[in-house]
Amino acid sequence: MTDERIVEPGVSPEELELDAALRPRTLGEFVGQERIKEQLGLLIEGARARGETVDHLLFSGPPGLGKTTLAGIVAHELGVGFQPTSGPALDRPGDLAAILTNLEEGDVLFVDEIHRMPRAVEEVLYPALEDFKLDVVLGKGPSARSLRLDLPRFTLVGATTRPGRITLPLRERFGFSPRLDYYSVEDLARIVRRSAGILGVDVDREGAGEIARRSRGTPRVANRLLRRVRDFAEVRHDGAVTGEVARRGLEVFEVDEQGLDKLDLAILHAVVEKFSGGPVGLSTLAAAVGEETDTVEDVYEPYLLQLGFLKRTPRGRVATERAYRHLGLRPEGALPLA
Ligand SMILES: Nc1ncnc2c1ncn2[C@@H]1O[C@H](COP(=O)(O)OP(=O)(O)OP(=O)(O)O)[C@@H](O)[C@H]1O
Ligand SMILES: [Mg+2]
Repeated sequence: MTDERIVEPGVSPEELELDAALRPRTLGEFVGQERIKEQLGLLIEGARARGETVDHLLFSGPPGLGKTTLAGIVAHELGVGFQPTSGPALDRPGDLAAILTNLEEGDVLFVDEIHRMPRAVEEVLYPALEDFKLDVVLGKGPSARSLRLDLPRFTLVGATTRPGRITLPLRERFGFSPRLDYYSVEDLARIVRRSAGILGVDVDREGAGEIARRSRGTPRVANRLLRRVRDFAEVRHDGAVTGEVARRGLEVFEVDEQGLDKLDLAILHAVVEKFSGGPVGLSTLAAAVGEETDTVEDVYEPYLLQLGFLKRTPRGRVATERAYRHLGLRPEGALPLA
């Protein structure tokens, strides 16, 4: 078994290369999220008709649902430059000032993981967002002078997996803040077929459906599973991805019929067996499976909650009856399943 996890956030070198090919560049190519696409389309058209920049946008939602992709699409549809950075990369106010003063009129400034931007940097951002001004302080001590610079008009697009961590003053400066939700199996199957077309993989309807069902509502996972199944189909079969080939390939890569991987199962087993079904605190649970608390909270838990396998209670996480059933166990004290 490889070290690569199917669910892992972040991008492997193999993925980086394919990413450019698979990533939709226009709203038309972006599958699903129909409401958000319609709303964004209106914002873009309106701004274009008035010759203005688009309001600042904040995309939130679990990893791999298309936040970065949408940010790129906004720039592409507007025909403006795309300047990407991230919250953690903006260490000091000067880092942000350098980026802001290098923007061209109308550019999209993309700040990934915007909830991790330091507070001091955030304060530099406020006047930039509101009035397109940058306050700089020259010199130190009593002779210090402050200067207000004009910035080009730009659109900030922020992305976050943790909207709750964004301060109120920052949140209020976005004109539109859509939340991306998990995709339906139908939309994921369309994404699998689209990607297969680009990669030249022969996938039938059933094969696409099998991959889609195990993709945990997430396009990035769908693309990843497609590539693993392609390997399996090419090495063990004639390369064609049928339903049967997809099922067997995904078994080899230890993705179960609900799309759960080894760590998901380890989490469920820990809650059920080590902590008697819960409640158990998130950091205790993360330590029990040897994973970072943030990764468990951002990547694994949301999908287990969505499936109804875990519940959040004030005292911690609790395994549901469904989780027991999925593991082939019975909740304690329950009557035997008939
Ligand atoms: N709606 C979509 N249609 C087709 N492909 C998509 C769609 N959304 C995402 N993808 C694909 O999934 C991959 C992951 O998307 P993206 O990088 O935009 O996610 P993200 O929300 O920014 O994730 P993270 O929170 O980890 O940064 C992209 O490479 C893209 O190819
Ligand atoms: Mg991203």
